[in-house]
Amino acid sequence: MYIVHSVNDVHNEKDLLGIAEVAILAGVSRQAVANWRARTDDFPAAVVELQAGPVFRMSEIKRWLRKNKGARVAQIISTINLKGGVGKSTTTVALAEIAAGELGKRVLVIDLDPQTNATTMLIGEDRWKLLNAKEHTLARLFADALIEPSARKFDLAKTLQKNVSNVRDVKNVDLLPSSLDLIDVQDQLGSMSSGKFHSDVPTDILRRAVWKIMDEYDLVLLDCPPNLGIITLNGLKISEGYIIPTIPDVLSTYGIPQIITRVKAFSDNIGQAITPLGIVISKYRSQSTLHQNTLRSLKKDPKLPPVFETIVPEANKLAESAEFLPINTLKQKYGAGAQGNFETYLSLTQQVLGAMEHA
Ligand SMILES: Nc1ncnc2c1ncn2[C@@H]1O[C@H](COP(=O)(O)OP(=O)(O)OP(=O)(O)O)[C@@H](O)[C@H]1O
Ligand SMILES: [Mg+2]
Repeated sequence: MYIVHSVNDVHNEKDLLGIAEVAILAGVSRQAVANWRARTDDFPAAVVELQAGPVFRMSEIKRWLRKNKGARVAQIISTINLKGGVGKSTTTVALAEIAAGELGKRVLVIDLDPQTNATTMLIGEDRWKLLNAKEHTLARLFADALIEPSARKFDLAKTLQKNVSNVRDVKNVDLLPSSLDLIDVQDQLGSMSSGKFHSDVPTDILRRAVWKIMDEYDLVLLDCPPNLGIITLNGLKISEGYIIPTIPDVLSTYGIPQIITRVKAFSDNIGQAITPLGIVISKYRSQSTLHQNTLRSLKKDPKLPPVFETIVPEANKLAESAEFLPINTLKQKYGAGAQGNFETYLSLTQQVLGAMEHA
């Protein structure tokens, strides 16, 4: 049996919340939370009652806050595929920009991929180099887990880049940037026995660092590296859902069942739902028989999550959108009308957010 000693104990293990943490999440006083609990019938039941007070499940609390308080409680979504080059970073950045620029969301992008593509798409290479030289990236956070607490240097405020994106009209996208140095850190984290971690739980490094700023956002998107290593698990640990971008061809879709199985095992292990929201078809070539057939079989496969209705075609303009050049509007960046993909990404973003609502 799992013996609970304190709120911290359960919190570290299972992503449960005490009254004080519910209050932080909701941006209200502890008394207000106690009042909700006393006065509303549908307030989530405590998972366990400790001497220190009741403990709640985070997903239930978040759902209740959204529904009843219109609370801005961040929806947290990871982007994963084990295959490289399938449009993970492009999708993550487009969803972030559209959600902020068109749907009025406050968005945080967390770039967990050492390739730093989402980072350079959102702040450009020059600014990234300056940050990297000062170690104001997530590589510092994960490297810190390998050293004594007293020697740690990660600075959340200096690492958090506010109001990023090369699109002038897009406000309210913030970024926690990645670094190429994360490759080495990832290897070291992976080869370390868990007893050696100076942080108690190796998959909990990110959550501990960003927990306090989550209530500043409506949507948090994590661009994960193409593997299910410790860095990705750190991203999944804080995620309520994930999307799988893929090119509809044999190699890109090959690992999808494995992702589903592995994430499910991790999710069961930490006692927290991480819902596969759907598959995003990207770089689609409508003339390709292979793409048509693969798309059809993805849609039919009962073991896979649904395929989002909106499909992102292969388009030069989307490849060009990776460049960090100043541009005024999202319509200019992604192209509007029949030949463009602004509308494509707008409806995809709505579908992803809709899937999250129903998860
Ligand atoms: N719909 C598209 N049409 C044409 N090119 C695209 C499209 N989406 C992405 N690209 C280009 O394809 C390449 C890979 O895309 P992206 O970086 O988004 O994939 P990824 O899955 O994040 O890759 P990695 O695994 O390397 O991180 C990039 O050069 C990108 O600009
Ligand atoms: Mg990428």
